[in-house]
Amino acid sequence: MKNKILASLEKSNDFVSGEELSKSLGVSRTAVWKNIKALREEGYIIESVTNRGYRLTGKPSLLDAERIRASLDTNLVGTDIVVLRTVDSTNEEVKRRARQGSKSGLIVAAEEQTMGKGRIGREWSSSAGGLYFTIMLRPELPPENISSITLAAGYGVCLAVREYTGLDAKIKWPNDIIIGNKKLCGILTEMAAQADMIDYVAVGIGINVNIEAFPENIREKATSLYLETGRKLDRNDFFISVLRHLDIAAAAFLAGFTDAENQEFRSLCATIGRRVQTTKGNITIEGEAVDVCENGELLVRDDTGELHKVNSGEVLVQGIY
Ligand code: BTN
Repeated sequence: MKNKILASLEKSNDFVSGEELSKSLGVSRTAVWKNIKALREEGYIIESVTNRGYRLTGKPSLLDAERIRASLDTNLVGTDIVVLRTVDSTNEEVKRRARQGSKSGLIVAAEEQTMGKGRIGREWSSSAGGLYFTIMLRPELPPENISSITLAAGYGVCLAVREYTGLDAKIKWPNDIIIGNKKLCGILTEMAAQADMIDYVAVGIGINVNIEAFPENIREKATSLYLETGRKLDRNDFFISVLRHLDIAAAAFLAGFTDAENQEFRSLCATIGRRVQTTKGNITIEGEAVDVCENGELLVRDDTGELHKVNSGEVLVQGIY
């Protein structure tokens, strides 16, 4: 319905009355109003004047594949860039394309995901104004490297956010970027592999860029660059910066992080030095996160002083959502 109303407004350069819209689309005036409200929340600027109706005067700035391609000077990330208006999930779309033989470096981004996926089978709410994309890579590495790939991606996004906005973004091990104690970005890495070699990885990244408000259930835990800076960012420019940093992070990861990079990663990792509780299956470990190991595992010292290497599962960090 929303798209039909939008199409009617786009077709006419002038006002379209609410009555006309309601008659031609066979819905109530209230339904027309609700959809106009939803379109405004997506960034469309729609004037409304009593007795004349609605007029479209501005559109949200959408991702522009041409512009991104033209500005990108990357090597590993962005060999092909696909921008979709809507998709079930960019991870799913990338996996479909990878199965059909797409080349390493493919990026699929979408304005809207109807079934955005989070970790542990959760849903990822993909409100308008966010940046949702997945990178497909075919590194010649054994499957154990998957968690380090997620960490390298988080490192790249974190550096991009810091450089582009000046905000004090940090990494919450293993796959979130946070500002203060709220989540800004989540990463979901999926993989297809043989026993000893990765076929492809799909690194799905969701960043809350220009989101003005979150649903009630995540309002306390989530933030966006708009909420932190008070201004709307040019998503194309920001995306280009993120992709550049991801390209550098991918190259560094493949070459093996230098001591300086490892040091920088640690200084950006908000989990280190905090009390954590990790759960995998029915085993729970509580203690202090003391480091991130070379292979990406979190090193946790429990209250008896014993060290544990934790490689995935749920992590609760004291003081962060
Ligand atoms: C998490 O924090 O649980 C991970 C969230 C990952 C969300 C991104 S949005 C782009 C890509 N497509 C998806 O369906 N999920 C990832």
